[in-house]
Amino acid sequence: MGKAIEVKGLQKSYKKLHVLKGVDLEVEKGSIFALLGSNGAGKTTVVKILSTLLQSDSGTVTVNGFDITSKPDQVRQSISLTGQFAAVDEILTGRENLILIAKLRHLKNPRQVADDMLKRFGLTDAADRKASTYSGGMRRRLDIALSLVGKPQIIFLDEPTTGLDPEARIEVWKIVKELADGGTTVFLTTQYLEEAEQLADRISILHEGKIIASGTLAELKKLFPKTKVEYVEKQPTLEEIFLAIIGKKEAM
Ligand SMILES: Nc1ncnc2c1ncn2[C@@H]1O[C@H](COP(=O)(O)OP(=O)(O)O)[C@@H](O)[C@H]1O
Ligand SMILES: [Mg+2]
Repeated sequence: MGKAIEVKGLQKSYKKLHVLKGVDLEVEKGSIFALLGSNGAGKTTVVKILSTLLQSDSGTVTVNGFDITSKPDQVRQSISLTGQFAAVDEILTGRENLILIAKLRHLKNPRQVADDMLKRFGLTDAADRKASTYSGGMRRRLDIALSLVGKPQIIFLDEPTTGLDPEARIEVWKIVKELADGGTTVFLTTQYLEEAEQLADRISILHEGKIIASGTLAELKKLFPKTKVEYVEKQPTLEEIFLAIIGKKEAM
């Protein structure tokens, strides 16, 4: 397994605000990597730099073996990006959105590509409705489907589940797992510990401009050993109760 992404000493300031103060991270090919950080930590800034939308101040980044500064076109051909805010065109139907992107990517059979994606993302029944009528979860699914048109090797998902209800969140988790099973490298950002825990092979925690911890979930847990063992009766969380009621827990 080679590296899909390597980042060394990445720095970025917005005027006086020093957001990234030397970020180092690595992502293995075909793995799911989670960049965990609170609101404003700089996650979107990292994603924008890695996907060539924003220039860094210093540091080196290679994506799919290509340096982002000297080979941005090759980087762009290897990746896709689903931003924090959906890129779906509301006026078009789900099918039309997909066909549009397939055409923009110069694919041979845009209709067929769209049909396949609609099926894969459970949107066939809604295919000919305007995206403006979709629920948050459907829209997010369409958004991810759009970014997968053309089979990128690496996909960036910037807070893919922020604002989704628990049911839709689990649907997105399933999609992310399937992507990685199919060999796609997934770089996702999240504010939710639970999301990183559920999905990621490796997690890096971004805090005050630096990666303060990196590793597998098991490794991270070892970094913070419990000092004392307490026995408490565990109450299910509201989310677990909700999911049990709607019968989604087995789907995970
Ligand atoms: N274009 C910009 N100009 C000035 N400040 C920005 C800009 N983009 C982001 N910031 C600031 O940089 C910090 C990190 O932002 P961001 O990368 O969006 O964090 P996150 O995605 O983790 O919430 C925040 O304090 C944000 O307000
Ligand atoms: Mg963000």
